[in-house]
Amino acid sequence: MKQHPIFAATYNWIMIPQDWLGLRKQRQKVVWAAKGKVLELGIGTGLNLPYYRDVEKVVGIDPEPHMLKRAHRELKRASVSIELIQCSAEDLPFKNSSFDTVISTLVFCSIPEVDKATQEVHRVLKPTGTFRFLEHIRTKTPILAKVQDTLTPGWKKLYAGCHLNRDTLSIFRRNGFEIVELQSVVYDVVLRGVAKPKTIS
Ligand SMILES: C[S@@+](CC[C@H](N)C(=O)[O-])C[C@H]1O[C@@H](n2cnc3c(N)ncnc32)[C@H](O)[C@@H]1O
Repeated sequence: MKQHPIFAATYNWIMIPQDWLGLRKQRQKVVWAAKGKVLELGIGTGLNLPYYRDVEKVVGIDPEPHMLKRAHRELKRASVSIELIQCSAEDLPFKNSSFDTVISTLVFCSIPEVDKATQEVHRVLKPTGTFRFLEHIRTKTPILAKVQDTLTPGWKKLYAGCHLNRDTLSIFRRNGFEIVELQSVVYDVVLRGVAKPKTIS
């Protein structure tokens, strides 16, 4: 994959104002609800790591080595057992039904093959497991969606492949998930949600 050392080095600074504006609270709500054995996709610089509690273990994955290097530094702030692995969400090195919870915060905007990644989440999550996410997506307001479409090509170059206009909920639904909870964080653009695996026949 293409590496993004400058994005990795500046990421925590970029996040400071967003965390002040409420993103940190949203991260906490997602992570605090995690149970059992947890897989966090696209762990980035490890901003969620300090919030895990009462879980058996967290496995964090990310394909970007500069991000993972920073996540390793965050381990000292974590109070639970954490393992970090360099790999992509599209090709998870885990057995079927390995995890009780999968977490993704601001990740599906950047994953190149989102259908494949969602199928992998479905595969490694236990049938009774829970997929908890905080993602920004394409708005349903046509004029704003047009703005997102227009900005995305340039935005992707600036922000390590981040798409502003992904229809992430449809991606989850067509790859075996039912959305069972959905909260608006910012209008209909930033959403916090919970999905459960549907049985694929
Ligand atoms: C915007 S950052 C979010 C980081 C972190 N989840 C957070 O909430 O701060 C997106 C992350 O997704 C990772 N990513 C990109 N492609 C990926 C893939 N195919 N599989 C897993 N993670 C990926 C990036 O390396 C980056 O760390």
